[in-house]
Amino acid sequence: MSIAKIVVYPSSVLQATANEIENIDARVVRLAGEMAETMYAASGVGLAAPQVGVSERLIIVDVRHPKGEKELITLINPEIVELDGRIVSEEGCLSLPGIYEDVARAEQVLVRGYDLNERQREIEAEGLLAVALQHEIDHLEGVLFIDRISRLKRGIIQRRMRKLIREGLEVEEGDTRLL
Ligand code: NI
Repeated sequence: MSIAKIVVYPSSVLQATANEIENIDARVVRLAGEMAETMYAASGVGLAAPQVGVSERLIIVDVRHPKGEKELITLINPEIVELDGRIVSEEGCLSLPGIYEDVARAEQVLVRGYDLNERQREIEAEGLLAVALQHEIDHLEGVLFIDRISRLKRGIIQRRMRKLIREGLEVEEGDTRLL
């Protein structure tokens, strides 16, 4: 396994709709493994395939990391079946280094997808896991968390990102867990 390069905003792959995965074969298993290594190496709690430059519907989430035992969830072609409630929490994203903003999302979700053994999985989640699943599934639609905040704030962030990229991506580390 190797660690992949994380794609950062404004790369076009982050803004595209990702393709359905038709066969859960060795290539997909390898991609999921590489994504997990990449996420753990970056101290993230979630990662979507477009973030490693692959426009396919695969996400991984581990909200336990780094505090407890690893509890990795891998979902292929995930879909949100139900949403309920509302929660506002600060989000960060491995593809938007140094950017942290409050985002409103559903507090509870029911998500359906397939695991690497081609078994259908249903996950009922709340709190951070619910936020992480919504954030990662958004990535598959080409939606970033800055698309869910005000236009004014988004404009400020876009200028800051351009400046960061010009200056070589030296970013401040925050406490928010990266998705
Ligand atoms: Ni993200």
